[in-house]
Amino acid sequence: MVRRRAGHAICAAAARQGNLRVGMATIAFGADHGGFELKALLVAAAEKQGHPTLDLGTHGPAPVDYPDIAQAVCTAIGEGRAARGVLICGTGIGISIAANRFRHIRCALAHDVTTARLTRLHNDANVLALGARVIGPQVALDCLEAWLATPFEGGRHAGRIAKLTDL
Ligand code: RB5
Repeated sequence: MVRRRAGHAICAAAARQGNLRVGMATIAFGADHGGFELKALLVAAAEKQGHPTLDLGTHGPAPVDYPDIAQAVCTAIGEGRAARGVLICGTGIGISIAANRFRHIRCALAHDVTTARLTRLHNDANVLALGARVIGPQVALDCLEAWLATPFEGGRHAGRIAKLTDL
């Protein structure tokens, strides 16, 4: 069980896993009923690129609560079962708000390739949120590909990331 306000050392270690510096690390996926179809598409795409995946649901149209899905993915990251996560709901908003309640998570909601790429370069986002009712499948696939392929730039951004962790 990952506590939201756990000690800095544990959280910082979990956050660093988002960098994926060594090989292909597991990506955890989660979606509510508004995003489960897009999730299936993205899981398949990530696996095709060679990324191990962990699909934490949901798997059908029955309504579920996005905070529960965010908690499942963020806990998997905190426990080291995944290095990064992808969360999808109708807008991407609720699920990104939920994810950012976790201290070891930097979740970014992206609507295009540029923001998906920059949130890796500048924010070292370890969770990507997408809105299935806002962007189309091809844009989502492009966002995922850019986000998975882009490393953290470090440098001047590293101190800002550290300040986030200390907030
Ligand atoms: C579910 O109907 C919807 O509210 C959810 O997917 C998301 O858009 C919330 O932010």
